[in-house]
Amino acid sequence: MTADPIPRFPDGFLWGASTSAHQIEGAADQRAPSVWDAFTAEPGRVKDGSTAAVACDHVRRYREDVALLADLGVDAYRFSVSWPRVNTPGGLDFYDRLVDELCAAGVRPVPTLFHWDLPAELDWLRRETAERFAQYAAVVAARLGDRVTKWITLNEPAEHTLLGHALGVHAPGKRLLFDALPVAHHQLLAHGLAVRALRAAGGSDIGIANSHGPTWPASRESADLEAAEFYDVLLNRLFADPLLLGRYPEGIGELMPGDVAADLEVIAEPLDWYGVNYYAPTRVGAPQGAGIDFGGVRMPAGLPFSVREIEGVPVTGFGWPVVPEALTELLTAFRDRYGDRLPPVVITENGCAYDGVDDTDRIAYLDAHIRALHDALRAGVDVRGYFVWSLLDNFEWAEGYARRFGLVHVDFTTQRRTPKASFGWLREVLAAQQGGVSFGSRAR
Ligand code: BGC
Repeated sequence: MTADPIPRFPDGFLWGASTSAHQIEGAADQRAPSVWDAFTAEPGRVKDGSTAAVACDHVRRYREDVALLADLGVDAYRFSVSWPRVNTPGGLDFYDRLVDELCAAGVRPVPTLFHWDLPAELDWLRRETAERFAQYAAVVAARLGDRVTKWITLNEPAEHTLLGHALGVHAPGKRLLFDALPVAHHQLLAHGLAVRALRAAGGSDIGIANSHGPTWPASRESADLEAAEFYDVLLNRLFADPLLLGRYPEGIGELMPGDVAADLEVIAEPLDWYGVNYYAPTRVGAPQGAGIDFGGVRMPAGLPFSVREIEGVPVTGFGWPVVPEALTELLTAFRDRYGDRLPPVVITENGCAYDGVDDTDRIAYLDAHIRALHDALRAGVDVRGYFVWSLLDNFEWAEGYARRFGLVHVDFTTQRRTPKASFGWLREVLAAQQGGVSFGSRAR
């Protein structure tokens, strides 16, 4: 961390914090079940055997959490709407209250419509799920659209496909490897149909949050280069190419179900902005049998690549490499690849897991990544916002409560919230960026 102040971002730059419904809400008895409920109920699926039935008890404590956001001084709050809750009579009332509370606090609500908690009776292998998603998007827009002016359709369809349907380490726990590709296609179609549904309901400023990171080949050997290229297609192009270019990377469209050409027209519905969730780069080489532990996931044998360790860099409490300059690399490469097809970019997630409330490691991580983002801006990438993952420590999927990503510590026994050192640090950074201008007048 340098002593120099973080450079000034342009006026109107959107600073925010993110969460997701299943990870914080609790009140599981007041909503229909999701695929995550069934998954966590299976022994051995979640490392500490925990569930998200209570999580951060946010449905009951949302006022306290909105007060934390206001105190932090963010312009915007990215949360997700739980589709199973909306499917429950009265379920939308909670989001109505949350949005009102945010507006009253001067924090702009930015809902994500799907962050992995699919209603238990649905399945992304079925095309019908895409149509159901668009109907659900219309229902949410009809209720919240008078106050919500920025929308996100899906969160990380790549991870949901890979972890949930190819490798089976997230819900719904399917291990289909490459037979999971229809899951990717149906999520993309769901996205495109939802963009149309939101616009038809008067919604605007619509984006998607995709996970991306540079892929670094393990060596210059052709086997490693080929494997890295393959991985790069899966992570960085399988979703971005159809969304931004209206086509799948070579060789992939043929593997997708349905009338792919017609679907691609829907999928490529123009976006107002493109969300990037960035955590770390990945070093990839030729297959090696069962590979290393990849962010807590043991890669199975039979994949055409293997994930390798990035040596000589610090790692987070989760063991993820800390490489801030890879964020600049990612964004400039994106701009070079997609040119004027790339709409303005918003970093919809960036953060790290470390224990403790005196979290100087998190401060160093965020400080370096915000500077790297500014470097991308100086290099000409049109970046419009940055959201920290996450506001609160929460249910970290298959890791349970063991990985703490929050700016605010949550004691899961008492539900006591304690702002960490990083919270105070970010508040100062934001105050300096905002230079005394009130949040309301900065909202785009
Ligand atoms: C997800 C979050 C998750 C975070 C840290 C992202 O992939 O969108 O839900 O908690 O990474 O693992």
